Amino acid sequence: MLQETTIPQPRCSSSEVGGAEPDFSVAENLCRVASNEWVNDEYKHLVLDAPDVALRALPGQFFHLACPPDVDGAALLRRPMSLYKVAPTHRQIEFLYKVHGVGTRGLARLEVGNQLDALGPVGRGFALPANAKHILLLARGVGLATLTPLADLARTLKVSVTAVLSARTPDLIMSADYLREAGAQVVIVTDDDKTSDVEHVETLVREIHATRPLDYVATCGSNRLLILLQRLAMQLDIPGQIALEQHMGCALGACYACVRPFKKQACADQLTYRRVCWEGPVFDLQETVSW
Ligand code: FES
Repeated sequence: MLQETTIPQPRCSSSEVGGAEPDFSVAENLCRVASNEWVNDEYKHLVLDAPDVALRALPGQFFHLACPPDVDGAALLRRPMSLYKVAPTHRQIEFLYKVHGVGTRGLARLEVGNQLDALGPVGRGFALPANAKHILLLARGVGLATLTPLADLARTLKVSVTAVLSARTPDLIMSADYLREAGAQVVIVTDDDKTSDVEHVETLVREIHATRPLDYVATCGSNRLLILLQRLAMQLDIPGQIALEQHMGCALGACYACVRPFKKQACADQLTYRRVCWEGPVFDLQETVSW
């Protein structure tokens, strides 16, 4: 049984942030678990039957999950989880998550038929430029899951996608098949063979741009890839965005637990502070301060 309780939402101020004017309705969705399977030694794929409001989730938005208890105890706070996929025809939302703490260990225990309280969708998603023809997705680790829905959006808009996927080892590369099915050109780089080195990734991105100019770049999951992409995008004059991961409290813009510093504008020295849950989690690439 699915339930949704819509929470009245003030609109975010857009005066300091990039991207489209947010217009999201957050609801507390009680979702039935349709499946929760391991995809490799570290990650699980969770599929939930979802009500209408959850099915309106956009690439880059997230849900705040009330994780069930693990054998070692229960997480005090909900866990933010970026959207991996929406399947409206099956009325399902999907997540790809790394099992590494009390919250995600609790999630890993969910079985088919259990219920999960998923607050969302929350936040500002990605905003592709209106004239985009070829975009780059550059992701590592769990960032692969966050960027994957962008390929679906790009296909809908007839935008070509090149995805560079980075991981420690080949078995930790996820989403490659999904991205290929969405029409993306996929390039895999790993620590194992040192192709994930920043120098190699820089050469790769320059070659991709020289072969077919990029008009938008997006990244998630790695500080060193953020720094690299900021530099390349600045030199090549390409707009871009990043989806940030952050510990959160309320995820509703009220507690300020998720505040981070940002540059007031690209290249500016002056800093400002923004809530990742509310003004993000997707931000302008050049305004983001690396960590
Ligand atoms: Fe409470 Fe962002 S988590 S304001």
